[in-house]
Amino acid sequence: MVKICCIGAGYVGGPTMAVIALKCPSIEVVVVDISASRIAAWNSDQLPIYEPGLDDVVKQCRGKNLFFSTNVEVHVAEADIIFVSVNTPTKTRGLGAGKAADLTYWESAARMIADVSRSDKIVVEKSTVPVKTAEAIEKILTHNSKGVNYQILSNPEFLAEGTAIQDLFTPDRVLIGGRETPEGSRAVQTLKDVYAHWVPEDRILTTNLWSAELSKLAANAFLAQRISSVNAISALCEATGANVSEVAFAVGKDSRIGPKFLNASVGFGGSCFQKDILNLVYICECNGLPEVANYWRQVIKINDYQKSRFVNRVVSSMFNTVSGKKIAVLGFAFKKDTGDTRETPAIDVCKGLLGDKASISIYDPQVTEEQIRRDLAMNKFDWDHPAHLQPTSPAAVKQVSVTWDAYAAAKGAHGVCILTEWDEFRELDYQRIYDNMQKPAFVFDGRNVVDAEKLRAIGFIVYSIGKPLDSWLKDMPAIA
Ligand code: UDX
Ligand code: ADP
Repeated sequence: MVKICCIGAGYVGGPTMAVIALKCPSIEVVVVDISASRIAAWNSDQLPIYEPGLDDVVKQCRGKNLFFSTNVEVHVAEADIIFVSVNTPTKTRGLGAGKAADLTYWESAARMIADVSRSDKIVVEKSTVPVKTAEAIEKILTHNSKGVNYQILSNPEFLAEGTAIQDLFTPDRVLIGGRETPEGSRAVQTLKDVYAHWVPEDRILTTNLWSAELSKLAANAFLAQRISSVNAISALCEATGANVSEVAFAVGKDSRIGPKFLNASVGFGGSCFQKDILNLVYICECNGLPEVANYWRQVIKINDYQKSRFVNRVVSSMFNTVSGKKIAVLGFAFKKDTGDTRETPAIDVCKGLLGDKASISIYDPQVTEEQIRRDLAMNKFDWDHPAHLQPTSPAAVKQVSVTWDAYAAAKGAHGVCILTEWDEFRELDYQRIYDNMQKPAFVFDGRNVVDAEKLRAIGFIVYSIGKPLDSWLKDMPAIA
């Protein structure tokens, strides 16, 4: 029986290993983590992450061939294949601060593997890492090998949160990079055999190590670039009276472009896009390619511009001040169907409104109050250092309240900002919301989820990203 151990029971490691266990009953899969609370949650009825379909998969195989444990060293020692799925945050200090990946967790995992291994291992990079990380890991392992043979593979994860289980069941492709040596090819084949249990052979791509590592960064950079492109056009739409949804639809009809990832929004978030582009930028700079670095940096700049443009729109519409006004924030997660808030645009928007002394009332169906307070008190890059590895969280933000109901959030508010596209926000009773708000009542739709015309008929002043502006908003041009 092949034994797999995955180090890191997070958003990537947990769902990926659960699906491998489900699809490969002959393989024993153990997911290990240094966080005892995270492992306890994986072993309970309340999984530590919200992901549609995940509960079902875990229930089917937990205790049979899927296990969650804090006994990191024992399971690493026993495994044939070790997936490493630990955090790779952006460095907050020292060389490359704010850009380069901090490989502290990765390095300590590699040193631990070297310490405890007595039999040959295939070590698989699962978390996104900078190009050439495999080389560094290989050096750590081989210099401490004690006769053990290690093969390093890169097998980047392409799942998106909210659709992770579906993405894992039917991936567009599985990518496996390895050394171009006989031992390397054998390791690639071993991992290929795992995925071949359910993924058609022609969707399993094999490349050299560096291509696999770079493909992950490039794929995320391309996706993020599409969003920044449509968001840049959204600003022009507002200025000219065009409608960004119509423009995106027309553009996406070109089969060379395609329709996906062209929804204008308040900005992209999530643990990957910004981090991976920063990484790409840093790698380009280190390789003497400043023009290429600047090209990709612009994708992030447009994303930041989009978030501050949204805040400016809110403030300028409300007579250039939100000081002391209550603003309801509907949605805090970085996209719908997840409780994840890493790099969510809601953080920057809320901080912007708080900076202007608004008092904000937040509702999200999946994000806890504790998480929201921690996010708003955190520094820019601290989000990727797990809470249990961080110093105690700073004092609560006073102008913020968190509710468990959209109506309570909007009660007595001057404005409502929709920052996540949760389906339930389409179905709210907006007449009820309007009746309980201060007048004039504003809705700022950062995800284009509401029917603006219906809301206008109720009496709201509505701003929708990239859509023709209400005359009210035209008369109150956004502050530059
Ligand atoms: C992304 C990649 O899609 C995935 O392949 C990779 O493995 C990890 O990073 P994820 O961050 O989970 O996945 O979600 P994704 O669906 O890509 O959305 C990222 C952000 O872009 C979200 O904030 C989302 O709301 C935003 N977005 C997406 C838009 O603003 N407009 C769109 O058209 C699509
Ligand atoms: P991702 O989205 O990439 O899955 P997460 O932050 O959700 O990232 O998960 C990474 C997990 O890795 C965390 O639960 C963290 O506790 C765990 N981790 C970090 N370093 C180690 C280590 N050396 N050994 C075991 N687990 C680790």
